[in-house]
Amino acid sequence: MDIPGSYGQLDRWNSVMFLYESALKEINTKIEILDGEFVHVYGRTPIEHIKSRLKTPESIVKKLKGDGLEVTIENMVEKLSDIAGIRIICSFTQDIYTIADMIARQKDVTVLYVKDFIKHPKPNGYKSYHMVVTIPVYMTQGPVETKVEIQIRTVAMDFWASLEHKIAYKFEGNTPVNLQSELKACADIVDMLDAKMFSLNQQILTLEEQET
Ligand code: GTP
Ligand code: MG
Repeated sequence: MDIPGSYGQLDRWNSVMFLYESALKEINTKIEILDGEFVHVYGRTPIEHIKSRLKTPESIVKKLKGDGLEVTIENMVEKLSDIAGIRIICSFTQDIYTIADMIARQKDVTVLYVKDFIKHPKPNGYKSYHMVVTIPVYMTQGPVETKVEIQIRTVAMDFWASLEHKIAYKFEGNTPVNLQSELKACADIVDMLDAKMFSLNQQILTLEEQET
């Protein structure tokens, strides 16, 4: 990303944040269009809901300091991948990969990297599919490739992650061992629930097919 050098610090901050905000809008629109077409073709929506957010200045500073980096706009742009973040919540695990493929196939989306915490869950039980992409934001001076972190997970995985986040935050990362193992047990239940809900849905689809 090229940050115009002639700007003052505050102007530069505002113009960088404007880019991330615009990138979020673009990705949101792309996903809404894909979802709309999916409904048209398959008669159902793969997406339950979408949340997007810009990282706050406080979190940006905290993250840079935590990573032992100097707090500069350059470091923030170069080193942080989740300043613009979008979370897609879907019904079934299988939908996650369908959505990820649909996004990755877009000509102007460049996938920088993927972290598949569904195939490889974190030791605490965290499951989600992360994709860091860039998309061009068209400014008056031309396109600027801008990073967006996309997290895709099921409703059940999201339920788990938000509770775990609250607990981890409360204990500042030192979650008591008994709570850790209960959370891990819940993560296994999430797996089971996702698998059950999927197979139930498959049965319904088969019945519907037989009726027509
Ligand atoms: P940070 O976790 O942001 O330092 O970056 P990272 O490079 O480790 O990326 P990672 O893909 O591991 O995580 C990025 C984001 O995923 C986080 O900001 C959270 O939103 C989410 N996440 C990752 N791990 C967990 C977890 O164990 N629990 C919860 N609730 N969320 C997580
Ligand atoms: Mg992490």
